[in-house]
Formats: sequence, structure tokens, C-alpha cells
Amino acid sequence: MRDVGPFGARNPRYVAGLILDAIETDAADVHAERVREMAASAPLLLRRVRSALNPQKEITMSDNRARAVRFDRYGGRDVLYVAEIPMPVPKAGEVVVAVRAAGINPGEASIRAGTLHEQFPATFPSGEGSDLAGVITAVGEGVDEFAVGDEVLGFSWQRSSHATHVAVPTTQLIRKPPQLSWEAAGALYVVGCTAYAAVRAVNVTRGDTVAVSAAAGGVGSVVVQLLAVRGAHVLGIASPTNDAWLTAHGATPVHYGDGLADRLKAAAPRGIDAFIDCFGPDYVQLAVDLGISPQRIETIIAFQKAQEVGAKSEGSTSASTRDVLTEMANLVASGAIEIPIAATYPLDRVADAFEQLERRHTRGKIVLIP
Ligand SMILES: NC(=O)c1ccc[n+]([C@@H]2O[C@H](COP(=O)([O-])OP(=O)(O)OC[C@H]3O[C@@H](n4cnc5c(N)ncnc54)[C@H](OP(=O)(O)O)[C@@H]3O)[C@@H](O)[C@H]2O)c1
Repeated sequence: MRDVGPFGARNPRYVAGLILDAIETDAADVHAERVREMAASAPLLLRRVRSALNPQKEITMSDNRARAVRFDRYGGRDVLYVAEIPMPVPKAGEVVVAVRAAGINPGEASIRAGTLHEQFPATFPSGEGSDLAGVITAVGEGVDEFAVGDEVLGFSWQRSSHATHVAVPTTQLIRKPPQLSWEAAGALYVVGCTAYAAVRAVNVTRGDTVAVSAAAGGVGSVVVQLLAVRGAHVLGIASPTNDAWLTAHGATPVHYGDGLADRLKAAAPRGIDAFIDCFGPDYVQLAVDLGISPQRIETIIAFQKAQEVGAKSEGSTSASTRDVLTEMANLVASGAIEIPIAATYPLDRVADAFEQLERRHTRGKIVLIP
């Protein structure tokens, strides 16, 4: 075994040596196995190893710096930039996660544009991002549930997950099921918990017929599949480009546009029991016009309209618990629910990622890979 050296296992040269040992020696060596696992799951460690092996090579980011999306004023996508920031330090009850994937959401674009200033004001410089999945690189005082190297998914409420590293309370994280891809895990929180809340809000029982607007979008694609899991007949309102996807995921596609009400009635001759709107107020009005009880109309976006007609408007906040996230992660891990990944972008292309999102024709999720 190699000499530990003056800084013990924290010495990158020592760790680099261990990894070389692991590569060169018998796999039965338990120590070598552990080091291989660490090497596979810890980009930070690998950066240290690389710099130890090539001390003369300039590294782009030192170990005590992280990178994070920032904006200093409300505006278009051009206000977004990636800043180098001090490496987050975990407070008591927190861990630092090296982010492997972080979903983006339309609400973040609205906050950045300032259109949600009354409800969700920004303070500048602002970060952004709730969804995240990654590998723990540091644990704060009192954390015994997670350790460095653990793979987790969850959420930040500090608008901070669009970054290479983020400090998060452990109460907002769960272990990532190994079957989940990083992209799906990093995109799960907002859409998973919102879909769960929306389906719960309309009290679905087996055999119900439920219409869903924006049925192939980030939230809608999960709503549709969760309804199918609960035994509902689903009418998925979308454009023709999503016919095949909706059919393959247990829904009957119904195209939006002129004549939609008639197409819905034709698709459900015995009536529609509930409506989940993932697009906007016109769909809430349509649901009322179709004779659906307001108690069984849910919108995740048209809050004022919901108030006007007595419909429900439950969002992710009401379902942001580890239990719900675990249930949704298990449904994805089991294959019962797919998180379609429309595109991935590196952190530096965050503006391009939002350009695609803001066209409002995404199937599933767009994910940043920091
Ligand atoms: N309350 C909450 O907690 C909460 C949480 C998450 C999201 N939200 C809000 O919910 C909304 C949906 O979010 P998301 O992430 O699902 O958005 P998204 O992924 O951007 O939605 C894109 C989808 O919208 C569909 N679409 C476009 N035009 C349409 C139309 N005229 N009628 C019906 N569907 C249409 C597109 O279908 P085609 O490609 O077929 O056109 C596409 O699949 C956003 O406004 C978001 O801010 C609220």
C-alpha cells in the first residue's frame, strides 16, 4: 500500500496513487474497489486527481470555486451569465451537491423576466433553479443520513441549482434510485411534485375520464402517465406532433385549436369527469363550459381564473415532500413513468436552453448538465 503522505487521504497525489493501484491491481482488493467507486462518482475528486497527475496543467476551476447561473436585473435571456463563485459550504443539516443535472422550468423564465415580481420578487444578483441531482461532496454538522459520494436528487428553494455545486438541506433530498438517469433525476422535482399535486387535487378514481392540456409538456407528460397509473382514461390535449408519444403512454390524443370542445366530446361520449390544465385560463373556461364540476378542475398556472370559477390551483409547493418525491422517483425507476428528455445543455449555454423552453413546444424536459 502506498505511503499516506503528509495530508493523508486528502492528498490528491495519494488519491491518484490509489486509483492507479486500483487500475493495476486485482479487483478483489476491497480498498481498490472503493477507490474505483469514488473515481466513478466524484467529478471533483477526478479533477483533483488530474491536477495531481499533471501539476503543470492549468485547471479551469480550483477546488474551492464553483460556477453558477446569475442575473443582475430582470430581462430577456441575455441577462443570464455564469459566474465563478466561492464553493458553497454546508451549514448544519445541509450537504453540498456536485450537480450532475438540473432541469429548467418556465417559472424560472418568468421570474427572470420580472413578470412574477409581485408574487416571487428577485434580489440581485439572483441565481436560479430548483431541480437538481448529483453527488454529495461535503456534509454539514449533524448530517448522518448522507455521506460524501452519495447520489441524490431533490430541490433547492434558494434559486441556486443551476450551478456546478449547491448547498441543500438534507430534508430536500432523497437517494437517487440507481435505475434513474442523471437527466431524469435532475428533472424530477418540479414536474413530479406538481403532477402529483394536480392529480391529487381532482380526486381521480379508476375509470374516470380526465382531460389534460399541454399534455406532453414537462408537467403534462407526467400528469398523463400518473393518471394512467391510477386507472383513468386520459384525453391528452396537444399538437399532432405528440400523437405517437401520447398514444404510447396510455392517452388518447386530442388536438388543440378551433373545434377542440367538439373533439373532446367526441372522444368522451359519456362525458369528462375531471380536467387538469397545464397551459392557461382558456382551458379552465373550456372545462367549465364542458360541464365539469369546478371541484374537479385543476390548473397549475391560471390562478386568477381558478379563483373566478372556484376551480383548484394546487402546485408543487403543496406536494414538496420527500415522501412524494420518493414515490415519484420509484415510479420512474420502475418504468411506470418516463421523464422524456427533450434536450440537454451545458451550463454555459443556459440562455440557449431557455430559448428552446420559451418556444413552449417542449416534449418533457430540458436539462442543464453543469
Ligand atoms: N404551479 C406550479 O407549481 C407549477 C409547476 C410547474 C409548472 N407550472 C406552470 O405550468 C405551465 C406548464 O409548465 P411545463 O413545464 O409543463 O411547460 P412546458 O413543458 O414548456 O409546456 C410545453 C407544452 O405546451 C404545449 N402547448 C403549446 N401550446 C399549446 C396550446 N395552445 N394548448 C395546449 N398545449 C400547448 C406544447 O405542446 P405542443 O408541442 O404539442 O404544442 C408542449 O408540450 C407553465 O406555465 C409553468 O410555469 C406551474
